[in-house]
Amino acid sequence: MTRFVDVPTMSRLVEHIGISRFIGELADAIQEDFINWPAFDKSARVANHSEIGVIELMPAFGVLADVETGYPVLLSELTVATALRTCATSLMAARALARPDSRRMALIGNGAQSEFQALAFHYHLGIEEVVVYDVDPLATEKFIRNLSAHPTLKVIRAASTAEAVRGADIVTTVTADKTFATIITPEMIEPGMHINGVGGDCPGKTELHADVLRAGKVFVEYEPQTRIEGDIQQMPADFPVVDLWRVLAGHIVGRDNREQITVFDSVGFALEDYSVLRYINSQAEAGNLGVGIELVPWGEHDDANDPKDLFRYTRSGKSRKSVRRIA
Ligand SMILES: NC(=O)c1ccc[n+]([C@@H]2O[C@H](COP(=O)([O-])OP(=O)(O)OC[C@H]3O[C@@H](n4cnc5c(N)ncnc54)[C@H](O)[C@@H]3O)[C@@H](O)[C@H]2O)c1
Repeated sequence: MTRFVDVPTMSRLVEHIGISRFIGELADAIQEDFINWPAFDKSARVANHSEIGVIELMPAFGVLADVETGYPVLLSELTVATALRTCATSLMAARALARPDSRRMALIGNGAQSEFQALAFHYHLGIEEVVVYDVDPLATEKFIRNLSAHPTLKVIRAASTAEAVRGADIVTTVTADKTFATIITPEMIEPGMHINGVGGDCPGKTELHADVLRAGKVFVEYEPQTRIEGDIQQMPADFPVVDLWRVLAGHIVGRDNREQITVFDSVGFALEDYSVLRYINSQAEAGNLGVGIELVPWGEHDDANDPKDLFRYTRSGKSRKSVRRIA
């Protein structure tokens, strides 16, 4: 049977594991796969962009399949999971690139992704205070409300992006504006900052001024995809970037010195979706969560049930119960 993890099951799973442990273990799982980078077949994501939005081949659900048989092992929601894998990826990058004594983070954009980013950096990177700004005050209020359950993280509300960024060790941008935005401009940048640029992730959507990119050392997930979708879409094709996986694998150095500006131009790569699905599957199995569904014919292969007899599934009552718990 295929394990089915819907949104309520995902909530139970996160609650069961605890969000801090979930993010930490997931960052390790993603890092394990990044270090194993050459073993994966990779391609830039397929996306259809229109005036009203985008449909990417990275839908609201994910499937983990067995390569040997093609059998779908897991069918999972991928909206909450994406927020978790995105903050875990940001954490993985910052662990390698930010100054180890980073304590203050600016968080620009307080929408759906923001709490996840804040908690990842608080619980696993030593960020003690987060200075937040959003053009929509209601988004910031939602953020403050949600984070009140995590009082060890000090939340400071800023009146502008510039005010939030001033004195920050890490700057996280998670805005959504498909208008070649420049949220972070060169005069806001201070020596040694790590910029975690999450929101510039599709054609026409940027957050960092070109001179911010020029001022820093820029790290990417999968270069062919980031050239199209990331903040570096505004730069010439030969603008130098560094593969994050090579830093994680110890092939090359990340940050060269304390004063350097490091930029993670995150767009979200399929390998991270694989890692989170792999993690969800193993944790759901361990916690006995999710239901089994007969997504493909699952007949017993015995004398009474010829596996080639697909036609029997045109009659009801010939398959197992359609929904039941996975033991
Ligand atoms: N890199 C990745 O892997 C990855 C993964 C998930 C989402 N994203 C991207 O991250 C961005 C944020 O996602 P979300 O789900 O939180 O979106 P969201 O719409 O919930 O939140 C975006 C927030 O940004 C705010 N905002 C817009 N322009 C702003 C500006 N100029 N200054 C300050 N705030 C501004 C909005 O008011 C909103 O509250 C999106 O662009 C999304 O595509 C990237």
